[in-house]
Amino acid sequence: MKMQTGELLYKGKAKSIYRTEKDDELLAVFRDDITAFNGEKKDEFAGKGEYNFAASAFFFDFLEKNGVKTHYLRAVDERSMVVSKLDMIPLEVIARNRAAGSIVKKFPFKEGQILNPPVISTDYKDDERGDPPINDDLVVALCLLTPDELMNVRETTLKINRILSDFFEELGLILVDFKIEFGRKDGIIVLGDEISMDSMRLWDRETMESFDKDVYRYDKGDFMSAYARVVEKINQWKDSHME
Ligand code: ADP
Ligand code: CDP
Repeated sequence: MKMQTGELLYKGKAKSIYRTEKDDELLAVFRDDITAFNGEKKDEFAGKGEYNFAASAFFFDFLEKNGVKTHYLRAVDERSMVVSKLDMIPLEVIARNRAAGSIVKKFPFKEGQILNPPVISTDYKDDERGDPPINDDLVVALCLLTPDELMNVRETTLKINRILSDFFEELGLILVDFKIEFGRKDGIIVLGDEISMDSMRLWDRETMESFDKDVYRYDKGDFMSAYARVVEKINQWKDSHME
């Protein structure tokens, strides 16, 4: 099942990153661990990594076909992908189409309120500091991005949001919000990390039921069935779009 070629470089909360025989490529392995509330709640569920891998591999490929540069190179097995090694930018870029989660706690939004135009916000990725919110001036002052790169990240995030929102609409799901991470390769900003049910909120269009990590976070039911359902819908979409 595993195909780990090199030394373990980094073990994060849900993925392990390995060196490969090529200096500019890494192996990202999606583990079965799931965490919430900055690691305060954690569990392991056999097969969870495969669901997030399947979603991520599909979305990276889909975004590339729609003109977004990503780190995804190829799948190795059912939970591992070879990616371009990026110099990661420690920012969590969040796009929101509806109010949910932290912004409902922090601001007077109603849960589910439509946000049009979508809202982009950014957290500084630092577990020890609790991933604090950061603004554009702070991003530039910390030399994380240049003003031009900031614009590029914003435009790319909005583009990704449009592509993914339209896709999920076809599946009968609402893309409520999602988090992405970028890095640099040869000075170019590239989408990295993952795009999965761990990093987005998805609601059923009819019932508003969650199909994402909120099912785990808030004990809303069987999150593995929810993840399985999203992957099943993606696979049905793939089957119906095969040339
Ligand atoms: P976390 O670090 O939040 O616990 P993960 O378990 O997902 O998260 O670990 C994956 C780590 O690998 C993240 O820190 C992410 O920023 C980093 N990463 C993702 N894609 C790449 C890439 N292409 N090159 C280098 N690092 C990457
Ligand atoms: O998850 P929480 O409600 O604490 O934070 P949020 O800011 O409302 O999260 C917005 C979106 O980003 C949700 O889809 C989260 O799952 C995702 N996110 C993430 O994937 N990783 C983080 N460290 C923070 C948020």
